[in-house]
Amino acid sequence: MTRTLIRGGTIVAADHSYGADILIDGGRILAIGDHLAGDEVIDAAGCLVMPGGIDPHTHLEMPFMGTQTHEDFDTGTAAALSGGTTMVVDFVLPAPDASMLDALQQWFHKAGKARTDYSFHVAVTGWNERIFDEMAEVVAQGINTFKHFMAYKGALMVNDDEMIASFQRCAELGAMPLVHAENGDIIAHLQQKLMAQGKTGPESHAFSRPPEVEGEAVNRAIMIADQAGVPLYVVHVSCEEAHEAIRRARQKGMRVYGEPLVQHLVLDESEYSHPDWDHAARRVMSPPFRDRRHQDGLWAGLAAGSLQVVATDHCAFTTEQKRMGVADFTRIPNGTGGLEDRLPVLWTYGVRTGRITMNEFVAMTSTNIARILNIYPRKGAILPGSDADLVIWDPLATKTISAAAQFSAIDYNVFEGVEVTGLPRITLSRGRVAYRDGKVLAEPGHGRFVERPANGAVSRALSQWKDLTAPRAVNRRAENIPAGV
Ligand code: URP
Ligand code: ZN
Ligand code: ZN
Ligand code: ZN
Repeated sequence: MTRTLIRGGTIVAADHSYGADILIDGGRILAIGDHLAGDEVIDAAGCLVMPGGIDPHTHLEMPFMGTQTHEDFDTGTAAALSGGTTMVVDFVLPAPDASMLDALQQWFHKAGKARTDYSFHVAVTGWNERIFDEMAEVVAQGINTFKHFMAYKGALMVNDDEMIASFQRCAELGAMPLVHAENGDIIAHLQQKLMAQGKTGPESHAFSRPPEVEGEAVNRAIMIADQAGVPLYVVHVSCEEAHEAIRRARQKGMRVYGEPLVQHLVLDESEYSHPDWDHAARRVMSPPFRDRRHQDGLWAGLAAGSLQVVATDHCAFTTEQKRMGVADFTRIPNGTGGLEDRLPVLWTYGVRTGRITMNEFVAMTSTNIARILNIYPRKGAILPGSDADLVIWDPLATKTISAAAQFSAIDYNVFEGVEVTGLPRITLSRGRVAYRDGKVLAEPGHGRFVERPANGAVSRALSQWKDLTAPRAVNRRAENIPAGV
């Protein structure tokens, strides 16, 4: 068995940085130290060595809004590796009334061509006894998170009664609910109103989803999670109203996690005013890009810890697919890409500006995600025994982002023309060189499913405290109770 040595780099972990060599054996980190010997040596002098990025939110080859995302597990994970991401967590979306377990099988099949390791979240899109039963089976198969869409009325949306039932089931199973938090009823109302006024262009997508509908839904989801005694993970937090709700809940001791997207940190709603319809439609996603004033708050939340992770929600449609909505903005497939750009863009706008430190960068792109999703320290860490998913990062390498040069299979890039500084030189997946100097070397099928076991500790703590502090019935003496009628 060949032992690989990464020599001369600076290890950047979530909590500290230090100079040391890393010895890899059998896909795992065997030792960290000085003067180690290996069979193959990778020279990391002048580079940083970080845990591979984990993208907790992707939609590869997903049927959605009358079409299917163009990016599949092959091209999507090639894009991921080129940008330093070594694991993706994708969403299994059962069709209405379809079995969760059948949908999960379909996703296992699609992910067979993944070049990175992967896991899944499974969506709960209704409520019945079969879903109740199947959730236990999903957890038994190594998936501990369930997604709830509070938007997409008439398609994926669930109501409060369905959410409390599912959240309670999550609590029993040691699973965690995720929410897409936007008020779907109000969005549907605003969409109809805008269309009736003849405002059919992509800018109306943003008008129909103001920050208030996101803020309301986040508050509601937090309240429901609190009633169920379960932690909560809010995906794609895009605005101050949503962040404020999360911050307040955390200050009250609730376990609520918030996930901004790199797109929302850098791009703003002016994209939708672009004179070119295609330009605007390519940026249609939910929640939409926001007024610039929201960005400072999201960055501050990441630095302060009220927001914990940065994802992409990579959900990539071609321009031709976007044109399904040319006469009606509500038919533009929602979603943007970012898998290969997340780390370089976050490094450029975050670390290089002093908004976040290198260690915080590692925490929010890898370590915190691994912890929250219960795969730490196998993933998200540089420790003996951890999988050797590593990025050898050149902090001075530069490029200009361009669709013409990307691994992603779509025909545009929302970060087109952005100059980034800080790029992976080499990405290793379980000890194998999976990307090096512009070439993806891991083959389709290299990726493995990563089991994420149930993690009941938080739910148990929350429900124990709830029991202790629950309202108590008053035990009255018979003479103090009036006779019944
Ligand atoms: O617009 C988006 N975000 N598309 C992907 C599906 C979702 O809502 O996460
Ligand atoms: Zn969503
Ligand atoms: Zn999504
Ligand atoms: Zn392989």
